[in-house]
Amino acid sequence: MGFLRGGLVLCILLLLCSFERSFGSGKTRHLKWDVEYMFWSPDCKESVVMGINGQFPGPTIRAKAGDTISVLLTNKLHTEGVVIHWHGIRQVGTPWADGTASISQCAINPGETFDYRFVVDKPGTYFYHGHFGMQRSAGLYGSLIVDVADGDQREPFHYDGEFNMLLSDWWHQSVHHQEVGLSSKPFRWIGEPQTVLINGRGQFNCSLAAHFSNTTSTNQCNLRGNEQCAPQILRVLPNKTYRLRIASTTALASLNLAVGGHKMVVVEADGNYVQPFQVEDIDIYSGESYSVLIRTNQEAFKNYWISIGVRGRRPQTPQALTLLNYAPTLASKIPPLPPSATPAWNDYGHSKSFSNKILALMGSPKPPKNYDRRIILLNTQNLIDGFIKWSINNISLHLPSTPYLGSIKYSLKTAFDNKSPPENFSSDYDIMKPPVNPNTTTGNGVYMLPLNTTVDVILQNANALAANVSEIHPWHLHGHDFWVLGYGEGKFTKEDEKKFNLKNPPLRNTAVIFPHGWTALRFVTDNPGVWAFHCHIEPHLHMGMGVVFAEGVQHVNGISNQALACGLTGNRFMKTTQN
Ligand code: C2O
Ligand code: CU
Repeated sequence: MGFLRGGLVLCILLLLCSFERSFGSGKTRHLKWDVEYMFWSPDCKESVVMGINGQFPGPTIRAKAGDTISVLLTNKLHTEGVVIHWHGIRQVGTPWADGTASISQCAINPGETFDYRFVVDKPGTYFYHGHFGMQRSAGLYGSLIVDVADGDQREPFHYDGEFNMLLSDWWHQSVHHQEVGLSSKPFRWIGEPQTVLINGRGQFNCSLAAHFSNTTSTNQCNLRGNEQCAPQILRVLPNKTYRLRIASTTALASLNLAVGGHKMVVVEADGNYVQPFQVEDIDIYSGESYSVLIRTNQEAFKNYWISIGVRGRRPQTPQALTLLNYAPTLASKIPPLPPSATPAWNDYGHSKSFSNKILALMGSPKPPKNYDRRIILLNTQNLIDGFIKWSINNISLHLPSTPYLGSIKYSLKTAFDNKSPPENFSSDYDIMKPPVNPNTTTGNGVYMLPLNTTVDVILQNANALAANVSEIHPWHLHGHDFWVLGYGEGKFTKEDEKKFNLKNPPLRNTAVIFPHGWTALRFVTDNPGVWAFHCHIEPHLHMGMGVVFAEGVQHVNGISNQALACGLTGNRFMKTTQN
């Protein structure tokens, strides 16, 4: 009897729960996810991947603007914590749901469940991924697509159908192996990826386009279509317009995508509409997303390659391929032409020209004319006792054990460095040469930003430890979109400010810095929380390439207990706040 009555009460509670009001204007979408390791063959070779509910990549979330997403995430990893970050979602009012270990929350322990509950307020192409250690590299990611709300204005462009392409790169060596290599002396670099994946699928030991290769060493793939590594073919009708949603969650690779015989019109970048422009190929850096429109106006009795190659580093990875298949042509029909060649990896002129074409759609929010504070961040490769690190203004980020959101909110002064990190670097630093004194230190200080100030960030690239080497770094900001005011060569000077685009700079959440160059960003601190700002290359972040911004944390209310259940906040609150 008692058991039955208990059951009834539970049922009523569950019913109430599923009807609860969401805090967005739309409906609440309830998801239950288990994160676990599993065997999978992303590139036809079996590996261990981090999957969600038995799937790799994780399930695609599809919602409408204004909806509340609730993901009950259970960690089934046995021996390590986990968190998930919702990349591109600003988390207005829910900074504890941002999913950054040591910053917004405590990692979820094995066996525990965390309730990620947040509003998706803006239509666009987004994704989610692990944000603890190098779990993104281990395969913990998936797509998050937000459509316009019912009854709202439609998108500022038309299309008949759409496809989603989440791009990633894959190594056969385990992430644990990679992590140990990165933090060893001598340093062991992870090398170039074995395979580029489209929606978690790629081909390592064979090629879909072996017919066209002039070496006999590549075998033609012999896939039935039901394999985990079989490509998803984009089946289209002639004379229609399709939207391709393309997002990159690569650990390392900068990519370039082309659709043979078809031009692309770029219409969205990082969940913001852009002034449409037409290109033959697009560059896409880790952390970025785009929507492009293609018109199926080519000969319908043929198929066409969609090819994705590596740029920005000397590539050792074959292009990822799939087909644009015109119905009713058979998908097995090989296109008559080989896949488009990827532009030369070091043709930075090509890269810059693409980046400079991206401008905000007319009517988009404009940046404030002036800034209140300017933070200049020098990106350098350094050494600590012979261990290789990346540093920002000569500090390599090493995250604390108590997440900042809780430690700042409750003024736990011993939780991290209270000295604020430098906002500039010495004026005689030569960014064209390896550092004169390569030694650096680790730190975990925070840039404390008052609410409602306009902050300029100048990302200054420099030379790495080796002479004549400067790498590409795509920088991603949590909690915000920023305006990209401009890119420039060499060392940023006050004069460069005159060239800033204040008229129609694009709003983005990720922007790249080119070798030996600078990139200028502007944002307004209108979102109380603690936000990571870092290079989206997973091993670089792991080697310290990031900073932390805290803004108006005293205005944050309702941090979930689970986000505080570790470190000093754990000691202080968890004993008294049982529920
Ligand atoms: Cu997609 Cu902090 O990252
Ligand atoms: Cu980097």
